[in-house]
Amino acid sequence: MSTPEGVERLSRCITIAGISQCRLFNDPHYFSILLSFSEVAVLDSATQEIVCCMGQPVAGNPTQFMMERAFAAAGLDWRYLTLEVAAENLGNAVRGMRAMGFKGGNFTLPHKVAVIEYLDKLSDAAEMMGAVNCVNRDGDLLIGENTDGKGFIQSLCDVVDPADKNVVVLGAGGAARAIAVELGLAKAAEVTIVNRTPERGQELVDLLKTKANVASKLTAWEADYTVPEETDILVNATSLGMGDPDEIVPIEVDSLHARLVVADVIVNPPETWLLRTAADRGCQILDGLGMLVNQGVIGFKIWTETEPDASVMREAVEEFLEV
Ligand SMILES: NC(=O)c1ccc[n+]([C@@H]2O[C@H](COP(=O)([O-])OP(=O)(O)OC[C@H]3O[C@@H](n4cnc5c(N)ncnc54)[C@H](OP(=O)(O)O)[C@@H]3O)[C@@H](O)[C@H]2O)c1
Repeated sequence: MSTPEGVERLSRCITIAGISQCRLFNDPHYFSILLSFSEVAVLDSATQEIVCCMGQPVAGNPTQFMMERAFAAAGLDWRYLTLEVAAENLGNAVRGMRAMGFKGGNFTLPHKVAVIEYLDKLSDAAEMMGAVNCVNRDGDLLIGENTDGKGFIQSLCDVVDPADKNVVVLGAGGAARAIAVELGLAKAAEVTIVNRTPERGQELVDLLKTKANVASKLTAWEADYTVPEETDILVNATSLGMGDPDEIVPIEVDSLHARLVVADVIVNPPETWLLRTAADRGCQILDGLGMLVNQGVIGFKIWTETEPDASVMREAVEEFLEV
């Protein structure tokens, strides 16, 4: 129930965290989240663990809703806060997180690469990718992890095994780096990076060749991209489509052939222009929800050292997005 006591407890929790920016207050799901709060054990101390998501724009990100449900289902009195943090405030925000003793956090667009300079240590995967989406506090140390790529590959493998496949990845940002490296480790035959800013794309190609040991090449994204005939898997790992179901990804639609698997990382809305167009062309499609849930499961385990109920998390995401 969203009782007055529940509201009072929540505001106390927010005060403890010193946070005044929880965008979720404007969200229609806020009261459902209060419901999960009231289902959790008593909140009468400052010992609750707090984790967060920092990004910009971050409104509409379903991770808080998914994690709060998972904490409640596991009987954990933990809080997950969604925080709108501008690029120029990232350093102060991480210092604040450290000062307030947060257990960890997720970092999303545009912070996945920039956050590294504020951390003490990186996992091997994060080091190799040069991108962090998940931070864990171990004692006084903030340790950067990367769970995006593994989450994506787990989800992709439900549809197709990337081993020996030719893959095109659109984008070279944090998500693309994680996905491309894991595709290399999963023994893809070749990973082609297509990016608007060629320098950033070339950096990723070099990383794939040297550290993930996979054949890779760059295509600078200047006009509508023609997907090569020999491509097996096309992944949109750009932010195109985020928050806009009709945002067009500049590709030559006629080059989407029916043997392609087309995957999109966009979560909200999960049905993007690219996926609708690809389905119309007879391609097999994969939305970003599986990746979101899988990386969330890995993050939950890192922070809490307990196994979450993945089906609760999937249901929460679907409820949040009304799909
Ligand atoms: N499903 C999930 O679990 C999951 C996990 C992680 C991320 N994501 C989503 O993945 C997306 C990317 O996140 P990120 O952290 O990788 O962001 P990022 O580091 O800022 O990278 C953004 C990428 O998108 C490209 N891009 C942006 N606008 C473009 C445009 N108009 N035309 C062509 N390319 C454009 C950028 O190209 P330039 O290099 O040229 O700027 C860059 O390659 C976000 O929407 C995020 O929500 C989903």
